Amino acid sequence: MRQKFNKHATDAFFEKHQVLMKPTPLELSGDIILEIGSGKGEFITQYALDHPHTTCIAVEMNRHVCYYIALKKETLHLNNLIIIMDDAALLNQYLSKHTINTIYLHFSDPWPKAKHHKRRLTYPSKLDLYGELLKKEGQLIFKTDHQKLYIESSFYIQSKFKDIVFDDDSEEEIYMTEYERKKRPFGPIYKIQAGVYDDTL
Ligand SMILES: C[S@@+](CC[C@H](N)C(=O)[O-])C[C@H]1O[C@@H](n2cnc3c(N)ncnc32)[C@H](O)[C@@H]1O
Repeated sequence: MRQKFNKHATDAFFEKHQVLMKPTPLELSGDIILEIGSGKGEFITQYALDHPHTTCIAVEMNRHVCYYIALKKETLHLNNLIIIMDDAALLNQYLSKHTINTIYLHFSDPWPKAKHHKRRLTYPSKLDLYGELLKKEGQLIFKTDHQKLYIESSFYIQSKFKDIVFDDDSEEEIYMTEYERKKRPFGPIYKIQAGVYDDTL
């Protein structure tokens, strides 16, 4: 996401808004959803507002964008929203194994060059991490407007998960991200819903 430098996105701001900036083991129970690469947080904050008994976790490593999630959390008084401003690769230093019900990846960066594919949030090494974090019956949901990322992610996800549903032209749902709102008028939104992580695959 291209984002202008935001002079207000200081460590002091994030500390004041209880945004986690370094690995902190969290003791969580109950229903928990995790959105990785939350951008400005439109999806996760609306979801959290409507599901006060669900713990919602936003992960966004770009501070200039993460700032807006913290503002929304404050404005909407979201006590059930945890914000992690860090690289998703470190999530096992924040979250316990098999605690998450659903992981959402929305409009993840496509990283088109082969030498950068490892940075993709759907890359197999990331999927292994998600498998560790998800409850046994947990699910992974991925949406994108980028056809090549969709196709390549389909192969990655098939190599690690079972019970997968592919949708080449997904319907609009209640909660949308900033990207989905912008991209939906211009073409299909691809969606993958994956049921069970299987470390024997
Ligand atoms: C293209 S934007 C999409 C934002 C939002 N999900 C949406 O749909 O509007 C992708 C976001 O993922 C974040 N991101 C990419 N890799 C990440 C990582 N490894 N850990 C945390 N955030 C990441 C980027 O900083 C960026 O804000």
